[in-house]
Amino acid sequence: MKAAWYERQGLAREVIQVGEQPRQPLGELDVRVRLAFSGLNPSDLKRRVGFNGQPHAFPTIIPNSDGAGHISEVGSKVTGHAVGDRVWVFNAQWKRPFGTNAQEVVLPSRLVQPLPDRVDLADGACIGIPALTAHRALFSDGPIAGKTLLIQGGAGAVGHCAIQLALWGGARVITTVSTPQKAKHAQKAGAHHIINYKEEDAAEKILSLTEGLGVDRIVEVAFGQNLPTTLKVLRPHGVISCYASDLQPMPTLPFYAFMMKNQTLRWVFMYELLPADLQAALSDIFLWLAGGEADRPGLAPPYANIDKSFSLDDTALAHEYLESGAATGNVVIATDL
Ligand SMILES: NC(=O)c1ccc[n+]([C@@H]2O[C@H](COP(=O)([O-])OP(=O)(O)OC[C@H]3O[C@@H](n4cnc5c(N)ncnc54)[C@H](OP(=O)(O)O)[C@@H]3O)[C@@H](O)[C@H]2O)c1
Repeated sequence: MKAAWYERQGLAREVIQVGEQPRQPLGELDVRVRLAFSGLNPSDLKRRVGFNGQPHAFPTIIPNSDGAGHISEVGSKVTGHAVGDRVWVFNAQWKRPFGTNAQEVVLPSRLVQPLPDRVDLADGACIGIPALTAHRALFSDGPIAGKTLLIQGGAGAVGHCAIQLALWGGARVITTVSTPQKAKHAQKAGAHHIINYKEEDAAEKILSLTEGLGVDRIVEVAFGQNLPTTLKVLRPHGVISCYASDLQPMPTLPFYAFMMKNQTLRWVFMYELLPADLQAALSDIFLWLAGGEADRPGLAPPYANIDKSFSLDDTALAHEYLESGAATGNVVIATDL
């Protein structure tokens, strides 16, 4: 099968190779997926460069955890999947060597999920990491219906997905962006209020939108950088769910400011969810993807904010593009090109 892979950590153009790799054997609990698209996420880049001390864990790594396509073979003990099913996959390259940056992938069937017809395959390749992260950040502390949420970075892959899932969950959404172009993306996702945090005082604007009360929950992409805003706008008993703090990985925390408001700091790491939490997330994500029009009239179909699609041959360029920070939203690789 055609694939992209690397055999050591390093710069994309120096370590990524494209060519033929052997097809993987199918175990009795496995499913083989003929991939249409592979979804690229920052963690795929971080693993390739050894971010935060991550080791090069396997001799050959086919990167990328997310993808979508059709099932081409099922193991003898697999139930609930059939050849031809449209599917999205997750965690394909988490503690496993062979991810989705290839024409096909063999995975334990639990990592393969049904993709409803109304979601196209390119969008399906962007569900895994963004949606599981967004779901846990939004729902770990109970229902969000009627609550006011701040979703930081609403044009990012996770943030954009979080806006849509938050609307599905019945929340009022305030989001932040850094450019007018990103504001358009956040608006298309359905955010009720969009703040350009580079041009406006985000905290002041959020307080004026909430009659001075602040927000019930924050979904946070830049914990350290946004701490001053958090301290001003998170209500007593509020929750901040943090999934990244890249620029300030060692922030200084004002203990008493959080303690005296009984606030919760929640850390979200989507790769290592408890089985019950993962199951809850997968069930909700399925309902969201399949369409809850009956009880949620007017909600737009889910979609990813795909900035650019690359061919398998151009995998290194795709990595470089996402790495450059130029992308607004998701980057995918068309694995059948
Ligand atoms: N913990 C987990 O399980 C988990 C899961 C998924 C992703 N992540 C991590 O989360 C981060 C984002 O992932 P992603 O795929 O969503 O990346 P992305 O598509 O690049 O989105 C990140 C967004 O955050 C915005 N942003 C950056 N600094 C900001 C700030 N101070 N305030 C508000 N917005 C800000 C960026 O736009 P501007 O810079 O223009 O504002 C961008 O739109 C990455 O570090 C990734 O590794 C963690």
